[in-house]
Amino acid sequence: MTPKTTRIVTAEPTEFGAVAFETLCNLLGEFDAPVVGLPTGRTPVALYEEMTRRHFDFAAGARLFAIDEYCTSGPHEGTNAAFFGRHLRARVCDQSVIVPRADAIDPEQEIQRFCVALTGVGGFDIAVVGIGDNGHVAFNEPGSAIDSACRVVHLAPSTRAQVAGAWDPPPERGMTVGMAHIMAADQVVLLASGLAKAHILSAALSGPVTERVPASFLQLHPSVTVVSDTLALSRQSQ
Ligand code: PGA
Repeated sequence: MTPKTTRIVTAEPTEFGAVAFETLCNLLGEFDAPVVGLPTGRTPVALYEEMTRRHFDFAAGARLFAIDEYCTSGPHEGTNAAFFGRHLRARVCDQSVIVPRADAIDPEQEIQRFCVALTGVGGFDIAVVGIGDNGHVAFNEPGSAIDSACRVVHLAPSTRAQVAGAWDPPPERGMTVGMAHIMAADQVVLLASGLAKAHILSAALSGPVTERVPASFLQLHPSVTVVSDTLALSRQSQ
């Protein structure tokens, strides 16, 4: 069995973006043309800002995939596609991030099409993920199985609450890569910042491995790097 390695890289809150950037760059250096899963939300903004500041670009052959997207009935600035347009695509990299189409008429068909594209390039070399207030990873909400596939999901109330400022009302459904695809990544980078994540990060890293906290499945992944600021790590038992 592959030995498990969980590295925890700690950053002062003001250094979070820079430390996440250095950590990701080191991992990217292990691959010629990496397939990378990228998160959205508040947490990775500091990373993307650091990429912009450093004029970083992914390697020429890199393939970039969103790890999830909302289901909408039309264009909306809260979609993950719009997020990447603001924070990454236009400002940092030549490659577009491949995102399932938020307003697809048939979201189930859309996420399956996306999944075929992802598996067609061999799945993730590096999956960069955040952690939801409820322990979700991508939109693998509590109750998701460790071997869950790409699919359309009903968003949990706390997930909808996380984005309530950007949407009125927040979307009810999302499309997500499955937990199986994240578990199959060669490397997982879990980003966490802020005191509000301290409790759930502690549960994910040191609590029982359970569907109730999908991020806890990462305890079973062979190679996880947690990049966290000191605030999000403040509840870890030593
Ligand atoms: P956040 O979201 O970075 O906005 O806290 C993380 C997530 O839900 O995965």
